[in-house]
Amino acid sequence: MAPDSSRALIKDLLDSPEPKVGVLVKGWVRTRRDSKDFSFIELNDGSSLPSLQVLVDREAQGYEALKDLTTGAAVSVEGDLVESRGQGQKWELLAKTLTLVGPSGADYPLQKKRHTDEYLRGIAHLRPRTNKYGALLRLRSETAFAIHQFFRDQGFFYVQTPIITGSDAEGAGEMFQVTTVKGPDPDPTFKNDFFGRYAALTVSGQLEAELLALALDRVYVFGPAFRAENSNTARHAAEFWMVEPEAAFMDLAGDMDLAEAMIKSVVRFVLKNRATDLALFDSFVEPGLLKRLNVLAESSYPRVPYAEAIKILSGAAKKFEFAPVWGADLATEHERFLCEEEFKGPIIVYDYPKAIKSFYMRNNDDGQTVAAMDVLAPKVGELIGGSQREERLDLLQDRMAELSLNPEPYWWYLDSRRWGSVPHAGFGLGFERFLMTLTGIANIRDVIPFPRTPKSLEF
Ligand code: 4AD
Ligand code: MG
Repeated sequence: MAPDSSRALIKDLLDSPEPKVGVLVKGWVRTRRDSKDFSFIELNDGSSLPSLQVLVDREAQGYEALKDLTTGAAVSVEGDLVESRGQGQKWELLAKTLTLVGPSGADYPLQKKRHTDEYLRGIAHLRPRTNKYGALLRLRSETAFAIHQFFRDQGFFYVQTPIITGSDAEGAGEMFQVTTVKGPDPDPTFKNDFFGRYAALTVSGQLEAELLALALDRVYVFGPAFRAENSNTARHAAEFWMVEPEAAFMDLAGDMDLAEAMIKSVVRFVLKNRATDLALFDSFVEPGLLKRLNVLAESSYPRVPYAEAIKILSGAAKKFEFAPVWGADLATEHERFLCEEEFKGPIIVYDYPKAIKSFYMRNNDDGQTVAAMDVLAPKVGELIGGSQREERLDLLQDRMAELSLNPEPYWWYLDSRRWGSVPHAGFGLGFERFLMTLTGIANIRDVIPFPRTPKSLEF
């Protein structure tokens, strides 16, 4: 059954410039209020945050179904859109025909009251029907669309890279193994396994994206990534989505410019197109959110060399749990201090020590640092990680040897540096981290419909 064209979406009715007769809507009951001769139903079909008020009186056909229209029930209503006599809404629907599609009951877990995030996580199959998660899911969709739009406008091609892979794109050893062999003993030779070799879920599409950028000039991946990091934090998921543009003939400065332009473009787009949903987050999740998003959209992001960031942190009056020292990675507390207290907005830190970064990053002439950059944002810390890639074969091989990375599974990656290698760069935006930034939601489990985290694989 395709969505029938005779049916109206509530978002369009609420925006209607004029009354309408003979309107058909379908959705789920949020609440019902009864008075002596009529009842009000708040009906929501997911198309918008506000619900449609439906007025049902004894004249309505199917009036006897009213008693079953409890919170959560699915109904179909046909009637006239008329100006509401009550306060709080412009329009209401005067029901003529009422049909119960799917009953609910008193045991429906989403009764009309505010539930905690923890409670809602346990009923992730139902939480999309709440105001907050409905708003989040609409925003998630719009954000994805805005990202595609941005890259398309910049001449980037959308490419798909493998999800099952034989090489660790980050060289960090956090992969989920993929196997068809059952039983307790993994076979180290993989001879009975599906691919006849080690296979795993990808941690990043970057390496393949580089190959495609060296053919199409500008590409981006927008796909899932999987990491078996055991960090049970509010910012890490085992399965998340990453946006990974990669461009030939681009250096680190261009990479930083691209990241900043992308964020700004997407923030402006959602501020314009999902204003009502964002206003909910501003009211109920992070007061001041809209102001912060305006800074994200309009300020220019300072470029801070890693060494300078360490200097600022070492000189800060604040006591950190981890001492900021040159050579160590920035902890979230450092990232947040820099954004929230020192620069009061997003920043881009670049030229990190090579020892803490991945094997593929381009060596700087100082011999100590690589051409890496991270975009750090208030609240979430690292939003983007990117770099100019090492395009010089000998330096890339030396670095892999230094890190004891077996070059064999990367033979094709090394080949890309043999014929027509060019300077190139790219980055990875954590899509969920971006949504946390856009909504003020503090836990990554609450910006993805069905999160996967250590010891948690429900739904
Ligand atoms: O900094 P990362 O590890 O960079 C890469 O994977 C590169 N290959 C990207 C590239 O240059 N093409 O990850 C990129 C971003 C991080 O900045 C973070 O926002 C997000 O991905 N991320 C995670 N998000 C949720 N859960 C996790 N476990 C994440 N790990 C990384
Ligand atoms: Mg990173």
